[in-house]
Amino acid sequence: MHGRLITLEGGEGAGKSTQAQRVCAWLRARGRVVELTREPGGTELAEAIRALVLRRWTEGIDPPTELLLMFAARAAHVRGLIQPRLAAGVDVVCDRFIDSSYAYQGAGQGIELRHVQALEALVLPALRPHLTLVLDLPPELGLARARQRGEANRFEDETLAFMRRVRECFLARAAADPQRCAVIDASGNPDSVFAGIVAVLEQRL
Ligand code: TYD
Repeated sequence: MHGRLITLEGGEGAGKSTQAQRVCAWLRARGRVVELTREPGGTELAEAIRALVLRRWTEGIDPPTELLLMFAARAAHVRGLIQPRLAAGVDVVCDRFIDSSYAYQGAGQGIELRHVQALEALVLPALRPHLTLVLDLPPELGLARARQRGEANRFEDETLAFMRRVRECFLARAAADPQRCAVIDASGNPDSVFAGIVAVLEQRL
């Protein structure tokens, strides 16, 4: 018995966390056992790494350090939570996953693709999301929403140019892997965004 891994991706202010909860409720209403989790984070160790990597350090964090911390958290999360739940038949809904490393550390920070690929091969040898929902919206709108929420993390300090590279990377990865990914217009209100998601869930799950 195997559960399904469903990931939500997108830039800042796309409303992923709200939509992830709704996806869980939708699956539960269909009789599935579901666990909601997030990256970086999801286990005790991975949440501790999250606190480190999202903190504003006096000396900053250089891109390789950031990349390695993201993957350290992911390794702990995959072994400690995702794989055991999927093996037990539980559906796992994850707020951000591997695509965020390509988008933020790769396209955003400029880490070479081959380094991200090497870490993916190490940490996720055989694990691939069943479905990835890419919540897409113009970065201007996303950053304004994120700042309005007032829960600014270090990434919400990033420039518009950074967020444009992040968006292009998510869209390019979705276009390259249409079996796994669906792009959802996230510029509307939460109900209209969820309607777009439900159309995909009904078709693909
Ligand atoms: P979070 O508060 O979850 O942001 P959001 O509400 O926008 O989802 O913080 C997670 C931050 O970590 C987010 O800004 C993106 C970043 N991140 C990476 O840079 N690389 C990664 O691999 C992951 C999983 C997240």
